[in-house]
Amino acid sequence: MYRRELLGPGSVDKISYTSSVMDDAEIFRYVIITLMVHVNELERVGVLRSDEAGRIRNALRDIWRGGYEPTRLTSYEDVHEYVEAELIRRLGSIGGWVGLGRSRNDHVATAIRLRLRDYLLDLVKTLIELRRTLLNKAIETADQLIIGSTHKQPAQVTTLGHYLLALDELTADFLSTLIHAYEVVDKSPLGTGPLAGVITPIDRVRETGELGFNGVVNNSIYATGSRYFALQTMSLVVSYLVEVGRFINNLEAWLMPQLNYVMADPSHLATSSIMPHKHNPATLEVFRARIGEAVGHLVAFYSIERPVEVGYQLDLQESTRHVWAIMRIAIEGLSILRDFIEGIRVNNDRVNEDISKYPITTAEYAEKVSISSHKPFRDVYNEVARSIRSGDIRSIMLSPLDVLSGKGNIGSPNPAQVRNEAMRRLSDVETISNWLLNNELKVKNVLRVLED
Ligand code: ARG
Repeated sequence: MYRRELLGPGSVDKISYTSSVMDDAEIFRYVIITLMVHVNELERVGVLRSDEAGRIRNALRDIWRGGYEPTRLTSYEDVHEYVEAELIRRLGSIGGWVGLGRSRNDHVATAIRLRLRDYLLDLVKTLIELRRTLLNKAIETADQLIIGSTHKQPAQVTTLGHYLLALDELTADFLSTLIHAYEVVDKSPLGTGPLAGVITPIDRVRETGELGFNGVVNNSIYATGSRYFALQTMSLVVSYLVEVGRFINNLEAWLMPQLNYVMADPSHLATSSIMPHKHNPATLEVFRARIGEAVGHLVAFYSIERPVEVGYQLDLQESTRHVWAIMRIAIEGLSILRDFIEGIRVNNDRVNEDISKYPITTAEYAEKVSISSHKPFRDVYNEVARSIRSGDIRSIMLSPLDVLSGKGNIGSPNPAQVRNEAMRRLSDVETISNWLLNNELKVKNVLRVLED
């Protein structure tokens, strides 16, 4: 509609090459909603008569109800062009009013923020569920021993509960930054036109309320030309996923038959078509691979954005699909991980067997002796090292549970402390859960404009 008529036809299909209609399936709903709010505003400022506005709104609802089949729409540049063309097809030239005081640049930025807001709320929900599982499981396994390793070598004795609290603390840190990122996303660029605003006297704050945004993106250049809100958020999401992937590596190691420290629910395992003895950790492997893919999407997003001057260029269109891909990988994978963690059990016998083999309490033993006999730590350390070399580890072994319960410092694996910490954290989760409920309600209200 726009380019073909204005710039003339060509011999190869450049329209479908540059079209975003496939990716736009993600934002179809919010493109319609944004147009509804725009039409409401055109009516309120007295540009559209209420019968005209009413007809356009009804047609927009009909288009919404008709669904979105992008494979039929590849002759359009994007969903915005399609919807406007469809309005004109249904209503005649009156449909063309929606082009007044609006650019695809401010509309697409609005729709992307609205869609990303939904994804973020879904992610927060998933993280809350993950945290609840981690914390309940930490309480359950606060005294179930695990040999913690550094350099992939047995290091110190700890518990599964202690490991799970580590993953919970990572998740809590991520959640708090994610909520700040949400506040950056939750602002309206609507009414800023292509770059430098429009003359139509749009009340941007009034529109913001209808879209359930928490404020406006002030500067019209920043509002239309920047994707910082998404870049920042995706950087956070991917950095969290990368760290989560490291916990997956621990779980996978513990599942190796050679260690066999934990047992997974069989629904997460797959066997081999030729080696019937295999129990492969299929879900963890796929999640870990997808985390790698998410890193790739983030790099793509950065790379597309980097050379683009401030001000809309179609490169920005090409960056958006990476945002959706990252969000899907995160939400799906974290739900899988939550389910995995809910189903794990510690194989205490196996862990105890290894505890008697490896002198994993040497650090604590040396600490204790150094303090109780007032000997410089390095001297005791050297004595302990000599015992280890001579193969006499019995004399320097401590009871793992005594070691754990003798630790009183913040963040250590003392089982009583792990349980208390987990309980305290469960109540923090409730605060975030209230934040989520409030925002979900706000977002749900916005969808009302689609109903009649
Ligand atoms: N389809 C574009 C996107 O997804 C929005 C349209 C902007 N197009 C333009 N020629 N200014 O970002």
